[in-house]
Amino acid sequence: MVSKSLVSITDCTKEEYLRILNLAKEFEANPHQNILNGKIVATLFFEPSTRTRLSFESAVLRLGGRIIGFSEASSSSSSKGETFSDTIRTVSNYCDLLIIRHPLEGTARLASELTSLPVINAGDGSNQHPTQTLLDMYSIQKTQGRLDNLTLTLVGDLKYGRTVHSLIMAMATFKPVFYFVSPEELKLPDDYRVFLKQNNIEYHETTQLPHAMKVADIVYMTRVQRERFLDPMEYEKTKNAYILKAEMLSDTKPNMKVLHPLPRINEISTDVDSTDKAYYFQQALNGVYTRQAIISHVLGLK
Ligand code: CP
Repeated sequence: MVSKSLVSITDCTKEEYLRILNLAKEFEANPHQNILNGKIVATLFFEPSTRTRLSFESAVLRLGGRIIGFSEASSSSSSKGETFSDTIRTVSNYCDLLIIRHPLEGTARLASELTSLPVINAGDGSNQHPTQTLLDMYSIQKTQGRLDNLTLTLVGDLKYGRTVHSLIMAMATFKPVFYFVSPEELKLPDDYRVFLKQNNIEYHETTQLPHAMKVADIVYMTRVQRERFLDPMEYEKTKNAYILKAEMLSDTKPNMKVLHPLPRINEISTDVDSTDKAYYFQQALNGVYTRQAIISHVLGLK
């Protein structure tokens, strides 16, 4: 079977999304499968991570593979001035698959053009986070029993939040209604609005949370992305825009679940954690099964 990269969520067709989600279900039922025996996976993280890097590493180990890599640019030779392309060319000699996170948009695509190995984008700046999207879809499917015709309310930093950008593009293939809730300063970039109009997807934009929560099947909270702001004062102005509290959940649909890619700062109060609406820690666990599925898919092992 042929290996391929996962750089943008649109690198996959709707059929491939469903295939990866079915594989994730298979790995959830049977997590330890020795299909990566003899393979080496490199995790190159030029930007901090807890969930993405460690769930990828857990996924590789559960599949019987081995891991090399670095968790910060400062511990690699890029801190001495080595170019990104020289790093990619070099590490390509040491492994079978590259998993890359970088603060600059487009770096995963660039890496895929510099190496013949498959590349998985673990987040590139404010652009995309396709593996997060697949685990979000797995979580949506698990909690709602379907992906089609759902109302998805996305809250917070819709300007810089890469998880939101790739989730919108993937879920658009399942006829959703979107509610986008953000401060004016953190509205969804125009490109996504154009994309939704071209694909005849219903969406509503508002600064107000209550109605958008009441009609939602999924409330997808996001943190305000401090590290992307050029002006710290802009961050200060928006950082407390939405804080979800347990008392706000009483008027929501019985099936509604709260998702969050994490890390959270203060946008979900800890009193939500013990309610039956909170699903964000199970969502992070689903990341292991989904990333096992993604690795198997890109390497053509399943
Ligand atoms: N959701 C996510 O990307 O988390 P990390 O930054 O901890 O990897």
